[in-house]
Amino acid sequence: MKHLLALSTLAALAAAPIAHAAPNADPALAERGSYIAKLGDCVACHTGPSNQPYAGGRAVPSPFGDIYSSNITSDPKFGIGDYSLDEFSRAVREGVRKDGSRLYPAMPYPSYANISDDDIKALYSYFMNGVHPVPVKAPETKLAWPFSMRWGVGLWDWAFGPGKVGPDANATDPVTRGKYLVEGLGHCGSCHTPRGFAFQEKAYHGDDPLFLSGGKLGAWETPSLRAGGSGPGLPSWSQEEIAQLLATGRNARGAVVGEMKLVIEHSTSLLTDEDNLAIAAYLKSLPASKAPRPTPASDAAQRLTAAKVDVNSGERLYLDNCSACHFVDGKGAPPAFPPLANNTLVNAEDPAGMINVILAGARLPSTPKLESDLAMPNFDWRLSDDEVAKLATFVRSSWGNQAPAVKADQVAKVRERVVKENREPSSGPVFTDP
Ligand code: HEC
Ligand code: HEC
Ligand code: HEC
Repeated sequence: MKHLLALSTLAALAAAPIAHAAPNADPALAERGSYIAKLGDCVACHTGPSNQPYAGGRAVPSPFGDIYSSNITSDPKFGIGDYSLDEFSRAVREGVRKDGSRLYPAMPYPSYANISDDDIKALYSYFMNGVHPVPVKAPETKLAWPFSMRWGVGLWDWAFGPGKVGPDANATDPVTRGKYLVEGLGHCGSCHTPRGFAFQEKAYHGDDPLFLSGGKLGAWETPSLRAGGSGPGLPSWSQEEIAQLLATGRNARGAVVGEMKLVIEHSTSLLTDEDNLAIAAYLKSLPASKAPRPTPASDAAQRLTAAKVDVNSGERLYLDNCSACHFVDGKGAPPAFPPLANNTLVNAEDPAGMINVILAGARLPSTPKLESDLAMPNFDWRLSDDEVAKLATFVRSSWGNQAPAVKADQVAKVRERVVKENREPSSGPVFTDP
């Protein structure tokens, strides 16, 4: 609670006048930029544990590891003080740094791509003239190979980027203004649109029924924001009720919790009523989507994402041993890590194949067209028969999988064979060729 309060004062602190402001800086422009920074919620991600506004260092989680936000204060050495307007624009709208390297999409540049030229200019003026320089180095992001290679993000952009959109920042009709804000600066889709195997948002624009159709965020399910038509959830809210929630975090229908609370604190609660009503008008214009949601999770998988799981359960064993590669939603990251949801081996009537993979590990074939150096480690040294049985039962009944439960004596049988074939029982993980 305490840090929430501290955070809510950040934007105010950051906006305090500073000494090095260029004498010819246009205060009105910087002032407008400060409002645009609120629309974009820049302070939330760019403020780290040291609580210095915009000095970076907050770990933004991704399935590939934590990505640290940059120092974007006006400090010329550690921040972006030496960025020109063009360089700033490229970083924010295209995800390319001054030195030409790629930013990871943990920075929501795919959404920010639609920010208008006028708004970028104002934002730039604010960061150069209205934000204190903080001379501290943000921690370096160190992801495991292949995600450590920033140039790979260029391919990602090519495959999954949102493409160009015609921004209409100054539209006076609320729906068009709302579209500009929601699809762009508000980056609502980064939490409310389902993600694909490469962590890309599956859609960036409202005409695609997957856009804002509900996503997943760590332990949270985020609701669909498509508020048109009728039905339970947002469609039953009025435009005013939605705007009220954005402004205050609550309305007659309820109150927000978790990450959305922070969005409201740093961003939507600081907006004009017109802008919150515009956002609500746009959400009301999106027909509630009947598009298939990601595979409906079974009860067990629901519990898995609900933070509190029993220490000895299959869910817990999965979280501790498997989710790093196959992810909590069982979708993996093909072609590197296969999905376990709807996987034929996992759903086979006879669990022996799956038990074998868990106990002995496996290695993906390396082919000229798709080189691979990835292996599934063996877990025979780590998990008892009973634990493998619980784990396998969990996997076989989650994320839409439907296969019979596994018993400890079935595991014991496979273990006997694995030990015999390997001649010696192994004493640790085997990542190299057997
Ligand atoms: C959801 C979190 C998030 C939000 C919101 C966000 N950023 Fe970022 N931003 C990041 C992360 C993480 C990085 C570093 C990415 C990397 O290292 O590849 C970054 C990097 C940057 C950089 C690159 C600086 C450099 O040279 O490294 C700029 C400029 C930037 N952000 C500006 C902004 C502005 C302006 C806003 C608001 C309009 C904003 N960001 C909102 C997460 C965010
Ligand atoms: C950092 C992630 C994140 C971002 C960005 C985000 N949301 Fe949310 N939102 C959530 C989560 C998590 C919930 C579910 C928690 C809840 O319902 O209280 C939620 C819930 C909501 C709800 C439903 C509240 C309720 O009580 O049912 C609305 C409306 C909403 N968000 C609107 C928006 C809008 C509009 C934007 C963009 C301006 C946005 N959100 C951006 C994470 C986010
Ligand atoms: C270090 C990453 C990693 C971890 C941790 C991991 N796996 Fe795997 N897993 C892989 C890779 C890579 C493959 C593909 C191997 C192959 O097909 O030869 C794989 C394959 C599998 C398969 C076979 C899928 C198929 O289509 O044939 C199953 C089942 C499986 N893993 C289950 C698990 C379970 C259960 C756990 C936890 C005990 C686990 N994995 C932990 C990387 C991992």
